[in-house]
Formats: sequence, C-alpha cells, structure tokens
Amino acid sequence: ATMSSEAELIHVFKGIPFTTRSSPELLKSLDTFVAREDDVLLVSYPKSGTHWLAGVITKLYNTKVTLTSPIEFGDISKLEELNKLSSQRIIPTHLDYNMLPANFKNKQCKMIYISRNPKDTAVSMYHYYRDNPNLPTVDTWTAFFDLFLKGDVVCGSWFDHFLSWEEHENDKNILFLFYEDMKKNLPKIVNEISLFLGLNISDNDIQDICKKSSFSEMKSDTEKENSDPSHTVCALTSNRKLIFRKGAVGDWKNHFTPKQNRRFEEIFNEKMKLSKM
Ligand code: A3P
Repeated sequence: ATMSSEAELIHVFKGIPFTTRSSPELLKSLDTFVAREDDVLLVSYPKSGTHWLAGVITKLYNTKVTLTSPIEFGDISKLEELNKLSSQRIIPTHLDYNMLPANFKNKQCKMIYISRNPKDTAVSMYHYYRDNPNLPTVDTWTAFFDLFLKGDVVCGSWFDHFLSWEEHENDKNILFLFYEDMKKNLPKIVNEISLFLGLNISDNDIQDICKKSSFSEMKSDTEKENSDPSHTVCALTSNRKLIFRKGAVGDWKNHFTPKQNRRFEEIFNEKMKLSKM
C-alpha cells in the first residue's frame, strides 16, 4: 500500500474496521435489505479462499446466476442495485454473523462459510495489505502480526468472525467449508456444495469444474482479462490480480518465528476454548 494515511482508508462501524469503500450509510442501511429465498450467501473472513469458492459455485449452475460484489461494498445505492437484479443472486460478504442483514436469517437463505488456518490467513492478509492501495501501509510482518492478533485489521478479529459463524454451525441452511479441505480433495467438496445447493451435477462435470478451478487456471484466466471491478468478491479491492498470490497451505511457516508461533497458539487456545476447531 502507498502513501495514504490510515484515517482516509479506514473507518470503524460497530467496533469493526471497514475500508472507506464500504460507506457508513450503506452499513447503516443493511438491516433494511430485502433478501430473496433463493439468495446464496458466500461468507468469509478476508483471504480465506473466497474467490476460489466463488469460482467453483458459479460454475456449478446451468441456469443464469449473478455473482454480485460484496453486500457491504459501495455506497447507499448498493441495495437498490441488488434489488434490480432479475436473476438468482450469489452474494459474497465478509460480515460477521451479527452484522448480517436479519432478512437473510429470517428467510433461511443458504449460506456457505469458508475458513482457513488463521496462520495462513494472517500471512495472506499481510501480503494483501502490502500490495493493495485501499489498505493502510504496514512496514513489517512483525508489525502486521501484532495488528492481526489484536483484531486491529479490516473486518476485525479473525477469532470473533469465526466464532460468530461457528455458533451457527448446525443451522441447516449453513454449510461450513475449509480451504485446506478444498486443497486436499476438491472433487469431494464440490460434490458436497452441489448437494447442499440442490444441484444435479455429474461426475464428469465435477472433474471439469475442478480442473478449471485450479490455482494456475484461475490465475491465468485473471491475467488474460482486463480487471473488471465487478469480478472481485472482496470488498477490499477491485483488482483481481492481487488475489492469486501463492495458493498454498502452510506458508505461515515461512513467516512465523518460533516465538510468534508460541504466542499465536496461546491466544488461539484461549480465544477458541469453546470452539470445536
Ligand atoms: P495466498 O495469499 O496465501 O496465496 P480470498 O479470495 O478470500 O481473498 O483469498 C485469497 C487466497 O486464496 C490467496 O491466498 C489466494 O492465492 C488463494 N487462492 C485463490 N484461488 C485459489 C485456488 N484456485 N486454489 C488455491 N488457492 C487459491
């Protein structure tokens, strides 16, 4: 990230830091959002594999669906814009469970939550902070590590985000996925997603979708197109080229010092006491 000061880029809403690309007016009006029964929400903390999952999901449909930009991205005109869409909507969001518009919950819309080892998420987010002009400057990994553990980053604390959603793990309309499981056996997860969405997909289609959703395929697809802002499913950038960095499990080992690892695990164990993770 470049010269701009933190104050110009970040504002805090209900205790959570958002970029100024999410206007306070929009955030305030989210609770008036009118959901549709067939909306599908794609939920994540940033850098958890949102674009990967979005790529898979859009390829699963034979009917026309629209992958929108994140619900919290933009200004007050956003709600109207989403209202106008006539096709089925796949709506990404980084909101925690409590901030999600109530109407999605009342209508029992299907929601897919993807999460990732928070150590890898932190490393991915660190690089994103460095490369993304919409985010404040961070000088070193050490500095970012502290901010991440404090939850002093966009979208707030990873722990709070995860826990707010994990509380709803057994809700029938919510599917929980892990980045690492997608890396290990993508066809299995794609099958799980298609069952959850009630779509009828052949094994051949699944193989084909997995091939087209590999890191290298998705990265080169993105490099070929002109970065179309409507193509990002992250409220923090409109530059899709910043998304496909390494796509690996365990990159944290190249960044964490042994001492940072101990500190991370201490805090993890404390915060996640009641979690099944
Ligand atoms: P890294 O920074 O570790 O490479 P999000 O879409 O939520 O912003 O997450 C971005 C992370 O997902 C990045 O992680 C990116 O490389 C990774 N990613 C994107 N597409 C992927 C794919 N097809 N396979 C594996 N990882 C992918």
